[in-house]
Amino acid sequence: MFVFKTVKELQYFLATVTPSGIGFVPTMGALHQGHISLIEKSQQQNELTVCSIFVNPTQFNKQEDLINYPRNVSADIELLQCLDCDNEEKRVVLFLPSENEIYPKKIEKSYDFGNLSLVMEAQHRPGHFNGVAMVIERFFSIINPTNAYFGEKDFQQLAVVRNLVKQLRLPVQIIGCPIVREANGLAMSSRNERLTPEQKEQAANIYKFLLDAKQQAKTLTVGEVKNNFISAIKNIPVLQLEYLEIADGNTLLSINDWSEINYCVAFVAVFVGNVRLIDNVTLYKD
Ligand code: PAF
Repeated sequence: MFVFKTVKELQYFLATVTPSGIGFVPTMGALHQGHISLIEKSQQQNELTVCSIFVNPTQFNKQEDLINYPRNVSADIELLQCLDCDNEEKRVVLFLPSENEIYPKKIEKSYDFGNLSLVMEAQHRPGHFNGVAMVIERFFSIINPTNAYFGEKDFQQLAVVRNLVKQLRLPVQIIGCPIVREANGLAMSSRNERLTPEQKEQAANIYKFLLDAKQQAKTLTVGEVKNNFISAIKNIPVLQLEYLEIADGNTLLSINDWSEINYCVAFVAVFVGNVRLIDNVTLYKD
């Protein structure tokens, strides 16, 4: 597998091989089956896939979170090498830039994503989506991908990236891919590496309670479904709910009554010890 550490090297390679389509899978490393599913989707749809590993400092609002973010590039490379990376019909290359390559100058950009940058993750992680938008805009300008792949676990991020592409009229198609879960239902996340086996078992309740909410949405009110979820989480001492929102899957505006919308998603952020996890489940979509 080719590994490029500089923008110049990567761009020279892209100009030389001129693939019919470039798929881009941005990651911050600590790769798991969720990332692999994005890369495999890209391999099905593009002759060349660029996977990046870059722990983007501008999207962390807490220094401690940036420092503790799991990093293991050699394990990541080993995992990528299982993907038939050198097959010319579905080649995968790795872009492993330094901070200086991505941010050669100290630039501060400010984006406006309307409601998308006011609710849920945006409210609890100020500046987070501004940092995500900065790095994604920069990556798109370097790689000029045909398609870019994002997981639906970060549902709000996906909505922000779609909005960014629309605002800047970028010629890239954004493809959302389903959440990949552990056998016990826990959504795969690089942060899961920081959980003990016991915490992982307890964290699986997040998905279980979201599925209960989906079932209850058929008969109970929005308020009742929310209260039941909150009580269920409170019964598991290691879980600490940061937020639960029942919202429109298109606008992310929260709702009070099922009749307001026809695409409804439940979103949660939960602390398991000091590890913050997010998850979501579509309650219904007509
Ligand atoms: O979802 C992530 O891992 C990051 O937010 C992304 C998209 C790689 C940007 O740094």
